[in-house]
Amino acid sequence: MQRRDFLTSSLAAGAALATLNLTTKASAAAEAKASSTKATAAKPAAPAAEPAPAPVVDAFVQPPLPYSLAALAPFLKEEQMSFHYSKHHAGYFKKLNGLVAGKPEAKMSLEELITKAQGPIFNNAAQAWNHTFFWSCISPDGGGSPKGPIGDAIDRDFGGIDQFKKIFTETAVTLFGSGWAWLAAGKDKKLQVLGLPNADNPLRQGLTPILTLDVWEHAYYIDYRNDRAKFVEEFWTKVNWEFAAHNLATLAKA
Ligand code: FE2
Repeated sequence: MQRRDFLTSSLAAGAALATLNLTTKASAAAEAKASSTKATAAKPAAPAAEPAPAPVVDAFVQPPLPYSLAALAPFLKEEQMSFHYSKHHAGYFKKLNGLVAGKPEAKMSLEELITKAQGPIFNNAAQAWNHTFFWSCISPDGGGSPKGPIGDAIDRDFGGIDQFKKIFTETAVTLFGSGWAWLAAGKDKKLQVLGLPNADNPLRQGLTPILTLDVWEHAYYIDYRNDRAKFVEEFWTKVNWEFAAHNLATLAKA
């Protein structure tokens, strides 16, 4: 089992074990009490305990990382990725599952929640989706220049890769507070760069996300302290153009 699978499984297994221990302790106490009762008097047996309630099943499950926690170094080292994936990203799923438990939103997709929900449910659903998307926007084999249709589209809409990088970098570095820099496409397939605050996502504007960079400080504070500009500069060494090309190709088929 990979570590990322283990994270989810181990939490569930841990909870099950804790329940089992409590059950065992309760059973032992009941048996001791019953034994004592038999020795002193022949009274009717106590009624059976109420069956335990069925465990709550989470509506949304955090997908595994597409690589190991250490695979992106030196861009992002294992400790940074561990905090980001295992605490921050996992935390959004945990909060979302608590918010939607027993509600109609538990049956919706994350994409539906991004376009329809408001407030805390939107915030946590969008952050859950955004991070999963972001993990695929970077790759141990990333970097270089975009090839094929994605490269052609960037040339067409930005005047070349250098100009695109400049616009995207400036958007990411200057975005006030927490948020995301996005490359997105409209129904006309035209590419555009957006800097969106907090959990916001181009899907809310009817746009298709092609590429993103998380510029929340939690994305880089261990490796880069407060130097967002350096983090954004290094992003280009691991950017996953194949994933961006895949997203553009999917849009082209739609
Ligand atoms: Fe993040």
